[in-house]
Amino acid sequence: MRSADLLILGATQVVTVDGGRATTKRGAREMNDLRVIEDGAIAVKRGRVAAVGTTNEILQGWHGMQRLHCRGRAVLPGFVDAHTHPVFAKPRDDEFAMRCRGEDYEAILAAGGGIHASARALRTRRVSELARDVAERLDSMLRHGTVAVEAKSGYGLTLASEMASLRAIRRAAARHPITAVRTFLGAHVVPQEYAGRRKAYIDLVIHEMLPRVAKQKLATFCDVFVEKGAFSVAEARKILRAGKRLGLRPKVHADQFRDSGGARLAAELKAISVEHVDATGPAGMRALAKARVVPVLLPSASLFTHLKHVPNARALIEAGCAVALATDFNPGTSPTENLQLVASLGCTLLGMTPEEVITAITRNAAAACGLGDTHGRIAVGRPAHLVIIDAPSYVHIPYRMGTNLVHQVLVNGRVVVDGGRLAEV
Ligand code: NIG
Ligand code: FE
Repeated sequence: MRSADLLILGATQVVTVDGGRATTKRGAREMNDLRVIEDGAIAVKRGRVAAVGTTNEILQGWHGMQRLHCRGRAVLPGFVDAHTHPVFAKPRDDEFAMRCRGEDYEAILAAGGGIHASARALRTRRVSELARDVAERLDSMLRHGTVAVEAKSGYGLTLASEMASLRAIRRAAARHPITAVRTFLGAHVVPQEYAGRRKAYIDLVIHEMLPRVAKQKLATFCDVFVEKGAFSVAEARKILRAGKRLGLRPKVHADQFRDSGGARLAAELKAISVEHVDATGPAGMRALAKARVVPVLLPSASLFTHLKHVPNARALIEAGCAVALATDFNPGTSPTENLQLVASLGCTLLGMTPEEVITAITRNAAAACGLGDTHGRIAVGRPAHLVIIDAPSYVHIPYRMGTNLVHQVLVNGRVVVDGGRLAEV
């Protein structure tokens, strides 16, 4: 008998999302292969998975100081939210109400609302205030089963407030069980005070913001919003190349409302991921598959902006992409931190299978934010980041349509959510 610190026993399913040598699962066959163990169990030692098998196998080979009985519940890898904007100063419920009365998202932005409204509010805040708000949002994400997030700046749009936003993420995450990977999104839109002087703002991003962000190691990735009303492909190419030279790997907000060539740019620059891709055409999809860029689909944002387009998940998967899903948590287009809801929308709006959406919020999502070595699957030797749901099967995650099914969350083998509530840590 070998000794473990913790034995998790009697799970209706242990959904490992394991198998295959690559970081991602690509295409329909791999994305549908979840490697589920019925009546499963996990031995945890020093915060890592020491063994995975059936309850019988684990009980025969291991004894543990502590035992956790799942009793009718399923265990999955902790969820990874690969695209969020958690640093903002106030909600935008006013714009939501305007859109419900027929006003258009892009028209509100062009009139100085939207991202501009968020920038005006954020610039008055100190890092400590921003960090406190981010920490509360991370708490909510954790209660919904998210153990790692990609978190962007992009509502400051000045040197000081973009740096403050990234520092706020770092400060909040330093004391939090969630792992946060930071992305610099200074090129979210051209701020209002640079109206008519876009080149001057792009120069500020390239020559002042990016070098400071890189020098102070405030971000891993650099993102640009490529869209009419935001940045062109040529402008984004300049910014993302400058970021790349400083060691920041590109990500791209692409083709949210029209095919502007953002997906092809992501492929050309070997971006780690491309986000939205609601309106990407066949050429863009082929380019993404060939360059192995992970498309991060954000169906809650598509829904919340009244379904002008929805990403063609089926075509992306058939093209051989490793599709991920994320919340896009932000005050404008997706005020939800619930990845379970997003999984449900993956099935209902995008035509994905329950197996594909689980792969898309775990393994492929981890790869989309550079966390493929530590997150997104349950396998021997990896950190024990686990979610135990109050349901017998992973199918309930998309099926229960946004109900928070999370019973327990473990990070590095330690219970951080218990009975749906944050545990005292
Ligand atoms: O991912 N597309 C650009 N940025 C965000 C939303 C910005 C906002 O409206 O605040 C998004 O949808
Ligand atoms: Fe976004």
